[in-house]
Amino acid sequence: MSTVGVVGAGYVGLTTAACLAHLGHDVVCGDLDADRVRRLNKGETPILEEGLDDLVVEGLRSGRLRFVLGASQAAAGVEFVFLCVPTPQGSDGRADLGAIDAAAREIASVLRPASVVVNKSTVPVGSTERVDRVLREAGAVADVGVASNPEFLREGTAVRDFLHPSRVVVGADDTAVGTRVSELYRGVRAPVLVTDPASAEMVKYASNAFLATKISFVNAIAAVCESVNADIREVVLGMGYDPRIGFEFLHPGPGWGGSCFPKDTAALLGTADDAGYDFALLRGVVSSNDEQRERMVAKVRDACGGDLAGARVAVWGLTFKANTDDLRDSPAVSIASLLAGSGAVVRAYDPASGEAAADLPGIEVVPDAYAACVDADVLVVLTEWDEFRWLDFGRVAGAMRRAELVDTRNLLDPAAMRRIGFGYRGVGR
Ligand code: UGA
Repeated sequence: MSTVGVVGAGYVGLTTAACLAHLGHDVVCGDLDADRVRRLNKGETPILEEGLDDLVVEGLRSGRLRFVLGASQAAAGVEFVFLCVPTPQGSDGRADLGAIDAAAREIASVLRPASVVVNKSTVPVGSTERVDRVLREAGAVADVGVASNPEFLREGTAVRDFLHPSRVVVGADDTAVGTRVSELYRGVRAPVLVTDPASAEMVKYASNAFLATKISFVNAIAAVCESVNADIREVVLGMGYDPRIGFEFLHPGPGWGGSCFPKDTAALLGTADDAGYDFALLRGVVSSNDEQRERMVAKVRDACGGDLAGARVAVWGLTFKANTDDLRDSPAVSIASLLAGSGAVVRAYDPASGEAAADLPGIEVVPDAYAACVDADVLVVLTEWDEFRWLDFGRVAGAMRRAELVDTRNLLDPAAMRRIGFGYRGVGR
């Protein structure tokens, strides 16, 4: 078992630290936020992530997991240091590597000989080399290795994705370094690819861009289905049985969002641009995703008889998908804001968005799904929370001024909703 430092206790860092401790490694996780560190040391997990609380508590109890303030405390004297810091979208669309550079500079002098710095943050091709350069410039010992180890964790299932991954990818110029990093995952069963850093970094971007492409594609097919009277669910079923296509990530909806796909597709477009390649396909994927939000707004406008001004709109779901409390780049928030911007009175309910939603301009957030619907003209389902399926829709219809329903996630049964008296609009059916 190895000693591991993790820099950053966000979604990726915390999941990585807790899961590596669960696999038996000795892990120190450092974060800049003193309050977060204090709470984590008491076993209080600041994010909603299934199974993560239990692993944090398990790690603290076993002594294999500790939280400290700052990067250098986490990195001092350990065999492996994982950089899990944010790489937000910069003003030019490209990833901002400021936090990576700062972390590398901070840890350089405390790294022990022959340790390996592993980049887990999503970083453009060439960043492993850049970390190597920053470390050397900041005085790291000569035999420190660097590697890239992209993560494929989905919010909401991050722990499961870490412990049961579809693959482990490690990129390093020195194969021995790459192999050492891959051995940290000895406890999990998955194909392992040890490759060069640029390829490992590209795997991450290509994977997210491809998944975004699948969703934009199915959303476009759904739009066509609506005009030719086809049902997208039947179409996806018929496509998905082809193993070359599969069923995953072909669920139509209000468009893709979250902290990864929008940022990573923009960054990949930037990389392609720098390389002199016009990635028209990916540009189309992104703009079709932007249009999808407008298409959903148009459905709500239709349901309101053509004019949103003064219409009362109930919104169910604000997070970017179900089973997370994350509002970052949420299509639900942007659609609700577009509705409010067109003059609608928007009242929203979300099971998990919590206080973060309270300041959304033009959106009143209420603590109950039924309360959102009182006197509403139209109910819009924007996030696929399972609990929405099981509500009393007779009560919902009774509370509304007009029982119109726009189901942007195809969560509900149209026939059942129509029987109850709703005017139902889904996506692609
Ligand atoms: C995504 C990837 O799935 C992870 O593999 C990756 O590690 C992660 O980004 C990352 O780069 O860190 P995540 O952002 O948690 O994970 O969310 P997804 O579950 O991929 O969903 C992204 C968006 O696509 C959401 O808005 C979701 O509602 C939408 N989506 C997803 C659809 O509209 N239809 C689908 O069929 C699937």
